Amino acid sequence: MANRLADIRADFPILERSINGNPQVYLDNAATTHTPRQVYEVFEEFYTRYNANVHRGIHELSHEASTAYEEAHDRLASFIGASGGRRELIFTKNTTEGINLVAYSYGKNQLGPGDAIVTTEMEHHASLVTWQQVAAQTGADLRFIRVDAKGGLDLEHAKEVIRSDTVLVSLAHVSNVLGTVNPVKEIIELAHDEGARVLVDGAQSVPNRPVDVEAMDADFLAFSGHKMVGPTGIGCLYGKEHLLEEMDPFLYGGEMIRHVTFTHSSWNKLPWKFEAGTPPIAEGIALGVAAEYLEDIGMETIQEHEEGLAQYALEEITARENVEVYGPDVGAERTGLVSFNVEGVHGHDLSAMLNDRGIAVRAGDHCTQPLHDVLSIPGSVRASFYIYNTTDEIDRLLAAVDVAPEELDGYLRSDRFHPSIHQHACTPSNEGGLDSPTFTKHSAETACGDDGEFYVRVANDGTIEEVGFESESCAVSTAVASILSEEVLGRSIEEIAELEGRIEALLEGEFPELRRDCVTGPEEVMREGAREYLEEATANQLGQH
Ligand SMILES: Cc1ncc(COP(=O)(O)O)c(C=O)c1O
Repeated sequence: MANRLADIRADFPILERSINGNPQVYLDNAATTHTPRQVYEVFEEFYTRYNANVHRGIHELSHEASTAYEEAHDRLASFIGASGGRRELIFTKNTTEGINLVAYSYGKNQLGPGDAIVTTEMEHHASLVTWQQVAAQTGADLRFIRVDAKGGLDLEHAKEVIRSDTVLVSLAHVSNVLGTVNPVKEIIELAHDEGARVLVDGAQSVPNRPVDVEAMDADFLAFSGHKMVGPTGIGCLYGKEHLLEEMDPFLYGGEMIRHVTFTHSSWNKLPWKFEAGTPPIAEGIALGVAAEYLEDIGMETIQEHEEGLAQYALEEITARENVEVYGPDVGAERTGLVSFNVEGVHGHDLSAMLNDRGIAVRAGDHCTQPLHDVLSIPGSVRASFYIYNTTDEIDRLLAAVDVAPEELDGYLRSDRFHPSIHQHACTPSNEGGLDSPTFTKHSAETACGDDGEFYVRVANDGTIEEVGFESESCAVSTAVASILSEEVLGRSIEEIAELEGRIEALLEGEFPELRRDCVTGPEEVMREGAREYLEEATANQLGQH
């Protein structure tokens, strides 16, 4: 692959863009990959040559659009080894919608009290939240396979929780935080032995390794186009044909029907039964081209390249004493991402500082809040690699990580921030809890991996007399919490319940736009806390009358 890297990079003009005066290093591929010329040119061709709705018109443009759209299904089916072709491949909006389709059309019909859904502690919210809701709505039990100390699934525990009452197992093929490649084939076998069906979340595996649904015997597999050089707004759900045949539609409307009267409707053949309304036509065709693009490089080659980068990054980063790394150790199988935290530098600050150098990573809980609870961290920084990344780029990341602890002070002191940010970050006011506060308000800002608590004492006259705060948030949010803790003293609780824009005004707008949420976050938390306090006080008063 090394000899093709320059050609591959040339297919992605966006890589030529410099960020903050530096060549761009894009290491946020687990969130969304870049898109090559071959894929986005599909849009120009579609809209300049054969834009029309599919399946409906007996005219040339509609025929061309329909043919290309339908063939894209076959291409994607073959990409994941589904021999049923388009009949087993539904275009969805993304992985999330694919999982929801199974939840609504299969899970909700099959599950009830006494049944169980089994998933894992490392699931993305797309799966975890969906099954939580299905369990709540059907009365089914929801059980989680434990993550072990090495960031893998505890297979002994899997054997305990997958039992004869299990109707559905839903698990990620690859963890989007730990990089773990789960033994899906083994777990599918376990589940099938108990009569359960298995949905594999392939969002982080289909883009970077050969995936064969029939070899693994998955019943369903969901993945997203935007993580595999395809466009946004399109994803796929594979399902075994006989299961899809038995299932009710997910959404109702045009395209998905065969015959409609005032009292009854019958459903179109697969996969159209599950594609209600006008579908994402150009996106679907472009996704077919994306799959072709990856196949031309070779999925084994892509896997090898990504794993090589991950092992290189992992080896280097674990050698640093001030860095904590999550997931399988060096040498163990892993996909192309590394999540970590640097001592003394919150992930949100680190990613902002890396951005100054043109390096894009992601900080936060990566839509896996419960997994971060298991790891006992509020968030992590994730660098994720793809076909166009190089070891030189990883070296740039490492060099920036190395200097981050000593550069944090200068970053906060820079003229992008109002001087009080640096001052409060260095010497915060009112840090710590309060004994018997009137109310406390917890904040867990999932997007950036912030965690904090405000403690507020309200005097008899309804004004705030004391505030304390504890923060595991970024330096900017922590400084703002400190400023806010001074600012609210002596003000009425009603005034605090309406607080908006006060901090921004105090800072005279002197902060980078990129950090707006860090600046406005604490105020929102305090405002919500005050509102909840007032609501409760009103409810108590009403209760007394
Ligand atoms: C493992 C996993 N599952 C599901 C998703 C959700 O994907 P989408 O937002 O494209 O629906 C993601 C996205 O990051 C993911 O990493």
